[in-house]
Amino acid sequence: MDARRRLCLVAAVLLAAAAAAEGYNITKILGEHPEYSQFNKLLTQTRLAADINKRRTITVLVVANGDMGALAAGRTLQTIRHILQMHVLVDYYGAKKLHQLAHGVTASSSMFQESGAAPGMSGYVNITQHRGGHVTFTAEDASDSASPVSFVKSVKEIPYDLSVLQISKVLSSPEAEAPVAAPAPVNITELLSKKYCKSFAGLLAADADAFSTVNATKDNGLTLFCPVDAAVASFMPKYKNLTAKAKTAILLYHAVPDYYSLQLLTSNSGKVSTLATSSVAKKDYSFDVSKDGETAALDTKVITASVTATVKDDDPLAVYAVSKFLQPKELFKVAKDLAPAPAPEGPKKKSSKKKPSAASSPSDDDDDSAADSPDDDSGSDVDAADKAGAAPPMLARWVTAAAATVAALALAT
Ligand SMILES: *[C@@H]1O[C@H](CO)[C@@H](O)[C@H](O)[C@H]1NC(C)=O
Ligand SMILES: *[C@@H]1O[C@H](CO)[C@@H](O)[C@H](O)[C@H]1NC(C)=O
Ligand SMILES: *[C@@H]1O[C@H](CO)[C@@H](O)[C@H](O)[C@H]1NC(C)=O
Ligand SMILES: *[C@@H]1O[C@H](CO)[C@@H](O)[C@H](O)[C@H]1NC(C)=O
Ligand SMILES: *[C@@H]1O[C@H](CO)[C@@H](O)[C@H](O)[C@H]1NC(C)=O
Repeated sequence: MDARRRLCLVAAVLLAAAAAAEGYNITKILGEHPEYSQFNKLLTQTRLAADINKRRTITVLVVANGDMGALAAGRTLQTIRHILQMHVLVDYYGAKKLHQLAHGVTASSSMFQESGAAPGMSGYVNITQHRGGHVTFTAEDASDSASPVSFVKSVKEIPYDLSVLQISKVLSSPEAEAPVAAPAPVNITELLSKKYCKSFAGLLAADADAFSTVNATKDNGLTLFCPVDAAVASFMPKYKNLTAKAKTAILLYHAVPDYYSLQLLTSNSGKVSTLATSSVAKKDYSFDVSKDGETAALDTKVITASVTATVKDDDPLAVYAVSKFLQPKELFKVAKDLAPAPAPEGPKKKSSKKKPSAASSPSDDDDDSAADSPDDDSGSDVDAADKAGAAPPMLARWVTAAAATVAALALAT
């Protein structure tokens, strides 16, 4: 394939990624309205804000500070999360649609229903249009004595992705309000040691920096990919060769600071950032996730690993066993020339505002030994990829140029 055609493909991939990456940030949207600050703060504390940002075609029913009642009083974050999930409808209702309901009534599923924690139909919200245009919202399991909750006004509408509507008070739902205990503290070392990943647990426990970073993130949304014992054993010679700094980075490279169920992981294919991304300045340390049959494939450009088992999947923490030690392109040479691949869908979340990745290579390379020896022995900031050949920096420049073009076009319209 000639260079021009490749450039076109790269540009097409970037455009697709840029379009998909155009997300919103509910925290920022509500931040412009101080009257919803309490609701906004709870969305962040319960990590629901991140879930909302990942979604499209949803409606958030917000409540003003003065109407919050005792929503948060004496409740665990897990219970508050259920209540707030009830306020996120998984369909788009702009003010216009609200007033044009067929037969004047509809039942909408909420994120509480989707969470699987809602028994029966209790995670549904009835929307009713009354005579005179008055619209009310009622949780399906609300008691008959619960007073109606009214639509107040439209706060923000991004058709048909996100609608934010103010309602008169918190929806009453006995099921969502049912107390949920805070989860028992998780001992990461113990968890990993029990299944598949004893060796990786040992490496992590031995690295104080990496361990404390992972440990501090586990309650705020974390997906950890632990290489199975055999994968660690075969990688050990290379691992031992790394500097202390690079060891910490490669361990953190296995941790994604967000919760992904396997279903989310495979349906939300795209680039993910890791704890190494945030820990090592000016380094990308991301990898691509894609669906691979029933499981997920992780492509670092150096190796492709697949998820072989679920060690734990309990929001906010997911741990998956993977077939190989993940080798970042920042520390190891990329496996082969970058061949254009089908456009990976950009991750449907805000984190993708970072430099978009170049086209990923087809990921059938199973040869672990194809990777070179570590190139970062000195622990210096020299990018291994820069030394590895002209292709990656070249692509990086195209990426930057194409991104600038996209930005310019966006400004021009
Ligand atoms: C969303 O906006 C808030 C407030 O402006 C900011 O602190 C946060 O980092 C943003 N989140 C993302 C994922 O960009
Ligand atoms: C919700 O609407 C359905 C019909 O659309 C009705 O059967 C049900 O009783 C309503 N529930 C509440 C709590 O209003
Ligand atoms: C976690 O488990 C490991 C292995 O079972 C143990 O050595 C360690 O003391 C535990 N840590 C805490 C904080 O309980
Ligand atoms: C890990 O985090 C927990 C809190 O979730 C804390 O109690 C524990 O001391 C931490 N362990 C280490 C070794 O830092
Ligand atoms: C370790 O590093 C040395 C010196 O850079 C190199 O010669 C050797 O091949 C490396 N070993 C492995 C297993 O990568």
